[in-house]
Amino acid sequence: MHKKILFLKKYLKDPQSIGSVIPSSKFLGKAIFKSIKELDQANIIEIGAGTGAITKHISSLNPLLVEIDQEFCDLLRQNYPHLKTVNSCALEQLKKVDERFGLVLSIPLINNPFKLSFIPIISTLYGQGLLKWCVMYTYGLNDPLGEVNFQSKVRRRFIMKNIPPASVWVYS
Ligand SMILES: C[S@@+](CC[C@H](N)C(=O)[O-])C[C@H]1O[C@@H](n2cnc3c(N)ncnc32)[C@H](O)[C@@H]1O
Repeated sequence: MHKKILFLKKYLKDPQSIGSVIPSSKFLGKAIFKSIKELDQANIIEIGAGTGAITKHISSLNPLLVEIDQEFCDLLRQNYPHLKTVNSCALEQLKKVDERFGLVLSIPLINNPFKLSFIPIISTLYGQGLLKWCVMYTYGLNDPLGEVNFQSKVRRRFIMKNIPPASVWVYS
């Protein structure tokens, strides 16, 4: 319950960056895990880990967690002491990547200025062969990474049991 209240508090403070009123459901977390398991193995970076609603389901894959909010980072470190958590803007962290990785993206892109800087960085990393794949969810109907020239892109799953319902997109 504490996580839900904290999440709602953060949402009321900054709705654009948080994107939803409650953390993702276990159904969405499981769908993300399943989607990752269908892809090539890679070091994983999860950006926008929040209270760890997705992390909980992928923690066995040892993701590097990146989260901009200090209080969320404290919670992540407490709950996932075996994982490395970086308190930073995802853009800064992505600029430092120098080995192949898979990306789990939880940062809302709809009406978020973050997207403007994120798309060119992702395009460059994919072009360099460093970004192997990306798994993300969206509450919208459209392809959220339509501007990036991925070889393969598919709306892999639709999860009704989430608030709001969400599509899982897989890019590789
Ligand atoms: C929709 S919430 C997702 C939280 C959690 N992964 C879930 O699914 O419930 C988006 C998260 O992204 C974080 N975030 C937003 N902008 C960010 C940025 N530029 N860099 C890193 N994290 C960011 C927010 O603080 C928030 O925790």
